[in-house]
Amino acid sequence: LTIRAGSYANELVKTAKTIASPGRGILAMDESNATCGKSLASIGLENTEVNRPAWRTLLVTVPSLGEYISGAILFEETLYQSTTDGRKIVDVLIEVWCPLLVPMMRWCQGLDGLASRSAAYYQQDAHFAKWRTVLSIPNGPSALAVKEAAWGLARYAAISQDNGLVPIVEPEILLDGEHSIDRTFEVAQKVWAEVFFYLAENNVQFEGILLKPSMVTPGAESKDKVSSATVADYILKLLHRRIPPAVPGIMFLSGGQSEVEATLNLNAMNQSPNPWHVSFSYARALQNTALKTWGGRIENVQAAQEALLFRAKSNSLAQLGKYTG
Ligand code: 13P
Repeated sequence: LTIRAGSYANELVKTAKTIASPGRGILAMDESNATCGKSLASIGLENTEVNRPAWRTLLVTVPSLGEYISGAILFEETLYQSTTDGRKIVDVLIEVWCPLLVPMMRWCQGLDGLASRSAAYYQQDAHFAKWRTVLSIPNGPSALAVKEAAWGLARYAAISQDNGLVPIVEPEILLDGEHSIDRTFEVAQKVWAEVFFYLAENNVQFEGILLKPSMVTPGAESKDKVSSATVADYILKLLHRRIPPAVPGIMFLSGGQSEVEATLNLNAMNQSPNPWHVSFSYARALQNTALKTWGGRIENVQAAQEALLFRAKSNSLAQLGKYTG
């Protein structure tokens, strides 16, 4: 049997397991400069070379966050950026949080040149990577869109592993729409079947990847309201049907759910033992309250950091199935 990942095979497994450690998840802070600009605009700040690092510095200097967070997803700019007091953000991440921390980034430029960029990111202390492909339900996704998404993710995963990076595989099925939870489930089954077909075709080492799925819920504009227990039933059925137990970790995105909703759903998924580490890789559901609390004012930094720590701790408990609200 040929397994990709050659000389990095053991390291990839170790990295993936480290990220997927009990009670821990990922802080996604990889908003592109444009998306970061929207967040800053929501609190009345301009999207500048001063304000972006100020917000990112606040995030990476939360004391003790490493108790609940095992990795951070960084936008490429952040990988080379400094904090407001001139230290490299990556160095601060490793120092302030915990030795388990593994910085990583997402690609924005497609497959061309990905191998050499992966090797360069590895040199910057990144140990895993993220590729996100978006699929939308209301008018699709077409069979071709699903195939294209799955093939792209599989090629990226293979290239990442060849260069020592654990690939986070993220086909994001957007929540937008009025569709039912059954429709989301149907689409998710197709997408994950195709993704694993091509991951296998590309000899990707399953023990050295992480997944980042959307939750299975009704569309965001649907009138149906379902409980966390129902969401968890659908998700676990999907995972059991489609995801091999060799995959160490499944790190959900929050996708525009409220902070508490995302935590409750994760908690519901962890009420009985799972073959994989089922955890979080949230951006909005970790950052929203912290951002509002900060409001761009230096005197609010501590309160904002406490808000982030509170969400991280709540999701850590949810990963262990012990969140009580
Ligand atoms: P949200 O949790 O805000 O959906 O973001 C997740 C993500 O993919 C960013 O990396």
